[in-house]
Amino acid sequence: MCGIAGYIGDSPEQNILYRLRLLEYRGYDSAGIAVSDGEKSDGEKIVITKRAGELKNLEAALKQAGKTAGAKLGIGHTRWATHGKPDEINAHPHVSRDGKWAVVHNGIIENHAELKSELKKLGYEFYSATDTETAAKLLEYYSAQGAAPLQALRQTCERLEGSFAMAILHAGEKKIYFAKNKSPLYLAYAENDGKKRTYLASDVICFSAQAREYYALPDGVYGMADENGAEFYDKTGRIFLPAEKLSAAYTGEEINRYPHYMLKEIYDTLPALRAETTYFESNFTFENYPLLCGANGGRGFTKAVLVGCGTAYHAALSGAGMLGRVADLDSAAYVASEFRYYCPKIDENTLAVFISQSGETADTLAAMQEAKRRSAKTLAVVNAEHSTLAKNADAFLPVKAGTEIAVASTKAYSCQAAALYALAEFLRAAALPLQKRCAPDFSALNALCAGLSYGDGNEEKEIARLFCGGKKLFFIGRGDDYRTALEASLKIKETSYLNADVYYAGELKHGFLALVDENSYVVVFATEEATLQKTLSNAEEARARGAGIILFTTNETALPDCPEEKFFRILRVNKLGGVAGGNPLQCVQNILPWQRIAYELSVEKGLNPDKPRNLAKSVTVE
Ligand code: M6R
Repeated sequence: MCGIAGYIGDSPEQNILYRLRLLEYRGYDSAGIAVSDGEKSDGEKIVITKRAGELKNLEAALKQAGKTAGAKLGIGHTRWATHGKPDEINAHPHVSRDGKWAVVHNGIIENHAELKSELKKLGYEFYSATDTETAAKLLEYYSAQGAAPLQALRQTCERLEGSFAMAILHAGEKKIYFAKNKSPLYLAYAENDGKKRTYLASDVICFSAQAREYYALPDGVYGMADENGAEFYDKTGRIFLPAEKLSAAYTGEEINRYPHYMLKEIYDTLPALRAETTYFESNFTFENYPLLCGANGGRGFTKAVLVGCGTAYHAALSGAGMLGRVADLDSAAYVASEFRYYCPKIDENTLAVFISQSGETADTLAAMQEAKRRSAKTLAVVNAEHSTLAKNADAFLPVKAGTEIAVASTKAYSCQAAALYALAEFLRAAALPLQKRCAPDFSALNALCAGLSYGDGNEEKEIARLFCGGKKLFFIGRGDDYRTALEASLKIKETSYLNADVYYAGELKHGFLALVDENSYVVVFATEEATLQKTLSNAEEARARGAGIILFTTNETALPDCPEEKFFRILRVNKLGGVAGGNPLQCVQNILPWQRIAYELSVEKGLNPDKPRNLAKSVTVE
């Protein structure tokens, strides 16, 4: 979603355009910058350049106009349209009438309509459909009333309702003003060769290669930064220092030998799972997670709800199954955007688990607020350690997937599923009376790491070519297979824009069989022995209607009464060993070929798998 960058320094190659490139992965549909470094004849005037579409359009426009991207001072924005079309006019930065203020903004100013009509009565005209323009006009209004820039910023913030992270230029000053409420904003300093630099960004990735230490700005803060540092003020106008200095691993990772991040990230899965397992073995202990253990034994809650969006919701579905089976805990998964408004019955006896890669997903954050309002215990299972979700939950269980750049989530999903399994094992162990408690058993995680297999990708390429042939796609399965099918279908939709309807196998005959004909492929997800025969019978029902059946099963599944000629294709996945009765994390192995198929489909169609149309990596609006 939208990205903010601000830069004050002296390194032309690290200018604001360079920083915006680091934010591209978040998804955007227009971009713009404001600079006022006086390198051009414009002197102290703020120079704005904006373009719809990709950054290359902005770059070309700058080149054509002979403008710089602000070697010393600038702010920039990648916009994912919420208020108004994704065109040049609505692109950020937005400016005051007198051109002295330029604002880039993430979040939503909820009272913008009311503010606009108030300002219109005072003679201000609006050129865009955005909520952000009201902030630029308010800054001008308070300045015109005699307020110094910082005071004008404070008065403006006092008027804004909703969420905002803003970076602001004021003509004639070599400073960046900023303000933050509910949308993430970070500030970092760096010094190289005796030269100082200050960075502002909505995403740490934007400066992590240059500045390893940074501050996560708290809500309600505003202030100003120059190349020597920054001043921070709270709502009462008091000056303060943000207490927590954080350090970032270098996350602007090299893509190495892979043509796309998505492929790289699929192959990152195994090292990430290993890191996560090692982490859990040492840190996921009763001492570190008192929230999950009753003081006198037992767990201190009687049921769990698991909440997430998109892929994280699919991980929640798997997690709910694991918590039920492994920990014998009454558990259910919910889509975050529904949970908030149609909340199930939860109270202080409920553990509410929020799953998210980014930790900034607005729907998930809102759902957590609702759970807190109802006194549930909250646990964040999140990949981004310093995110809002991780910070605001009662307890935080880190997902160790590492930075994920491709919009289509791959390794984060697998690591979320593994983390939820670890949670299930933890809760099984915690349920025992104090004297009988022993450490949770994470051996299935080790068995997963030992057995996970990728294959060479050739079969996945073939299936991708098949799917490009124009036939209708239906995915069916039961239990965990159904959940894998849901995630497989989402991946395919995101990366290739093909539709794959997903149904419970047993539901076939209750309606959607009417859609199945010889122009269909029915993919039968059947890796679970317990339901294999029943699911194969459902496959027969589809085959009888002319569909080509693609069977997805394990390399150990025998098909005795089911000759292989019945299948148009069989795709076999490695059956994990090392755990009696089957590894409960087989779902992590099972999704790998489907992530690869989604990737190959995108490549086959000549698309960019890392940046699907219309989508954003981190969805920060509800
Ligand atoms: O950052 P989050 O995990 O909270 O994001 C949730 C969804 O937006 C996300 O999983 C989305 O569905 C992915 N693009 C799926 O690949």
